[in-house]
Amino acid sequence: MRRTIWLGLMAPAGTPKPVIDKLNAAVNAAVKRPDIVKLWTEQGAVPMSMTPEEFDKYPARRYCEMGRGRQEIRRQAAIRSRNKVPFSMPSVRFRLNGVETDVDADPDRSLLDILRGPLGMTGPHFGCGANECGACNVIVGDHAVAACDTPLWSVADKDITTIEGLGSAEKPHPLQRAFIAEQALQCGYCVSGILMSAAALLKRNPDPTGEDVKAALDRNLCRCGSHNRMVRAVLRAAAEMAAR
Ligand code: FES
Ligand code: FES
Repeated sequence: MRRTIWLGLMAPAGTPKPVIDKLNAAVNAAVKRPDIVKLWTEQGAVPMSMTPEEFDKYPARRYCEMGRGRQEIRRQAAIRSRNKVPFSMPSVRFRLNGVETDVDADPDRSLLDILRGPLGMTGPHFGCGANECGACNVIVGDHAVAACDTPLWSVADKDITTIEGLGSAEKPHPLQRAFIAEQALQCGYCVSGILMSAAALLKRNPDPTGEDVKAALDRNLCRCGSHNRMVRAVLRAAAEMAAR
């Protein structure tokens, strides 16, 4: 997997150009420092340097590589409007809890908005709305992601699992049984997101250590302080699943 780290500065609107130039020069000088380049190279990083124009194009290219890019959607919208084709929202298709699903909506809307709105999935909860609390977590592929911070366009052709697809009252998932057995919740608001993080972990690593569980749940907040019980519950579920 290739990850990209952007280094840059955000200046408030109206910042005078000489100040921006000075800040950019400082960043550029820092990233060329031999000790920093050596450190990154040791970690396998490949430094890239871009002009502002190239930088503008790079994320667009990556979006397109990731699926139905927003640039492509905008291009199609522009063609439609030029040709006076009546505008309709582009359709984004994905599998939701194993069911092929088409959504006609603004591709920039958040996945959480779409799940809780038109698709009626109330399991993913709205907490912070800023990828900080994990209450909205769903599984995309093998990983838990914050649906509040995931644009609809980015999940085209992906597999999405929400808590509704994990288990039911009649047929609970081992994680759900373990959470009840360990009494690993109080108000429960965070729990659907935590269960999705835990389920993604067990999908990738069926035999996790306590440290693995803590790392997987690290970005999920629980204001009721049920963390220790939750870690015990995830380990319990893993043991139950392994014993089957
Ligand atoms: S609501 Fe999505 S991370 Fe908090
Ligand atoms: S159980 Fe209440 S926020 Fe986690």
